[in-house]
Amino acid sequence: MAPHALSDPGFRSMNGTSESETARPLFVVDSPDVNYSESDIKTKYVYRTTAVTKTDSGQYVARPKETVYDFKVDRHVGRVGMMLVGWGGNNGSTVTAGILANRQGLVWDTREGKRAANYYGSVLMGTTLKLGTDTDTGRDVNIPFHDVLPMVHPNDLVIGGWDINRMNLADAMDRAAVLEPTLKSMVRKEMAQMVPLPSIYYPDFIAANQTDRADNLLKGDHASMAHVEQIRQDIRSVDTISSVRNC
Ligand SMILES: NC(=O)c1ccc[n+]([C@@H]2O[C@H](COP(=O)([O-])OP(=O)(O)OC[C@H]3O[C@@H](n4cnc5c(N)ncnc54)[C@H](O)[C@@H]3O)[C@@H](O)[C@H]2O)c1
Repeated sequence: MAPHALSDPGFRSMNGTSESETARPLFVVDSPDVNYSESDIKTKYVYRTTAVTKTDSGQYVARPKETVYDFKVDRHVGRVGMMLVGWGGNNGSTVTAGILANRQGLVWDTREGKRAANYYGSVLMGTTLKLGTDTDTGRDVNIPFHDVLPMVHPNDLVIGGWDINRMNLADAMDRAAVLEPTLKSMVRKEMAQMVPLPSIYYPDFIAANQTDRADNLLKGDHASMAHVEQIRQDIRSVDTISSVRNC
């Protein structure tokens, strides 16, 4: 099992560190195949495999094969929106509260004691990757997976989404009955301002038990492209993103 990121000396923070704070990379690669510029990282990677053929006499012939890949990674991590379909559901409300809790570094009381927000369970945020071996100590150097390349931090995600039910995310979080009351009370005010965008509802394609909650629907004829256009507009619209900017 990969070592826990918290035990690694290079580890910074499992919750509160955002993109702006991680502008300086945790490591650099010193290799003629890797070039850093202000805007990107260019890497030449040789992928070595063995191609095997069989002769008429039944003998195998193994030929080393090299494929050269040129990778270019943008060093600027842009603003990323995450729009969830079914935002007001158990998953949508829980992941939203979880991101808020991490963003704010919240600690709350439970029957078992205090709990602090973290991203354990996230492959990107909670696991490490072996970078190499320390030449002084001979020990493995493990770094958080999230620091391998520039990538968006979940704390920086702009969250939004659609739901056929109009309930705000604070009430939806109660309905989901997943989180501790103490944590819910700390994120309630912010979550109450988040209301899912109207969604597409075609009863033929949706379980009958959803009918009672379908009160937030896109109007219009679904035989036309109007609904598709509206969803496209939701995604593109700067206003839509800004309306959920505080999430
Ligand atoms: N909760 C889990 O542990 C879990 C685990 C694995 C997979 N899943 C899957 O993840 C999905 C969400 O799970 P959940 O627990 O949050 O379910 P949920 O029933 O709590 O939430 C689903 C949400 O989707 C909304 N919805 C239904 N039709 C919609 C439409 N046409 N447009 C927009 N919103 C619509 C509902 O109003 C509801 O709020 C489901 O497909 C579920 O099978 C859930």
